[in-house]
Amino acid sequence: MQPSRFVGGFAIVCVLVVAVGIAPSAPADGNGPNLFGFVDPTGIVRTYNVNGATDFDNPFFQGLGTHGRSCGSCHQPADGWTIVPSHVQARVETTDGEDPVFRTNDGSNSPMADVSSVEAKRSAYSMLLTKGLIRVGIGVRPDAEFELIDVNDPYGYASASELSLFRRPLPATNLRFLATVMWDGRETFPGESIHFDLSDQANGATLGHTAAIHPLTESQREAIVKFETGLFTAQSADNAAGVLNAQLGAGGPVALSQQPFYIGINDVLSPAFNPRAFTLFDAWQNPPSSESDPYTRARQPSREGRKSSTCGASRSPTSAV
Ligand code: HEC
Repeated sequence: MQPSRFVGGFAIVCVLVVAVGIAPSAPADGNGPNLFGFVDPTGIVRTYNVNGATDFDNPFFQGLGTHGRSCGSCHQPADGWTIVPSHVQARVETTDGEDPVFRTNDGSNSPMADVSSVEAKRSAYSMLLTKGLIRVGIGVRPDAEFELIDVNDPYGYASASELSLFRRPLPATNLRFLATVMWDGRETFPGESIHFDLSDQANGATLGHTAAIHPLTESQREAIVKFETGLFTAQSADNAAGVLNAQLGAGGPVALSQQPFYIGINDVLSPAFNPRAFTLFDAWQNPPSSESDPYTRARQPSREGRKSSTCGASRSPTSAV
C-alpha cells in the first residue's frame, strides 16, 4: 500500500489533511500498517486489524469478477470501509470515469444509462457521485404486504420485477457487533451464525457487484470473512481531547475490539439492565495528571459529551490506538 495514504502519527495530521482527503482508492497489493488512520472533521479515525498488518493480497482486494471491481472498490479503507461522495468524485477525475466503481450493473442510476463520454458518465453515475449510492436492484417480493401501482423513475428503468433501491455501502468493519447483515437483513438466515451470513454475503457480492461468473471457493469466502471480521474502526484521536485511550480512556479501535458483546448484552428487559452504559471515559472524571495539560483540560467537555472544535493540537501523542 502507499503509506502516504494514511496517517502514521497525530503530529502530522495537519500536513496530511489534503493528501489523505483525496486518496480514494484501495492499494493494489502488499501489506499496510496496522492501525492506519485517516483524518475526519474531529480528529483521526483508525482501523485495528486483530489479524495483524492489513493484507492487501486478501481476496477482499482482488478483482474477482469480470469488470475489475473488488470488495475494496466500494469498501475503501480510508473511507471507513465504505465510500464517500467527494472521494468518488476524485476517482472520476483521476481515471476519466474508468475506475471500476463506475460500472453500469449497479453503479449507474440505470443499467441502460449512456456512459459513452466522461460528461455522460457524470450524469449516469450522479447518485454515486453526489451521494455515494449504489443501485441495489430487487424485485417486489411475492409475499410483500403492498402492491406496486405506479413507477416514477427519472432514470427510466425501475419496474416491479426490479426496483431500484439506492443504498450506501455499509461499512465492512466492526462486523462483530452485527445482529443482521445488509440494510434490509436479507443476508440474515434463520438459525445461522453471522459468520455464515457474511460468507454467503461475500459470495453474493462477488456474483452481483463484481459480476463474477463463478462463485467464490470455500477458502476465498473464509479468507474474506476472516479479514473483514478482524477489522475494528473507531475515532482514535480528537482534535481537542487528544488520544482517546490516554489516561485510561477506553476510546479507539483496540479498546473496541476488546469490547464484550453478545446480542442482548444490555437488554432493557433484563434485570441486569444498566441505563448508564456509556462508561468509556469514566477514568477521565478524575484525571491523574496536571490540570495544566491542554488535553486533560479538553477531556472534561468531551467526557460531558460537549463538542470540541479546534484543530490546534500542537503536541504529538504517539499511542493513538
Ligand atoms: C459496487 C459496490 C460494492 C461492492 C463491489 C461490494 N459491496 Fe459490499 N455493500 C455494498 C452495498 C451498497 C451494501 C449495502 C447493500 C444493501 O444493504 O442492500 C453493501 C453491504 C455489505 C456488507 C454488509 C454490512 C452490514 O453491516 O450489514 C458487507 C459485509 C459487505 N458489503 C462486504 C462486501 C464484500 C466482502 C464484497 C466483495 C466480495 C463487497 N461487499 C463488494 C456495495 C458494494
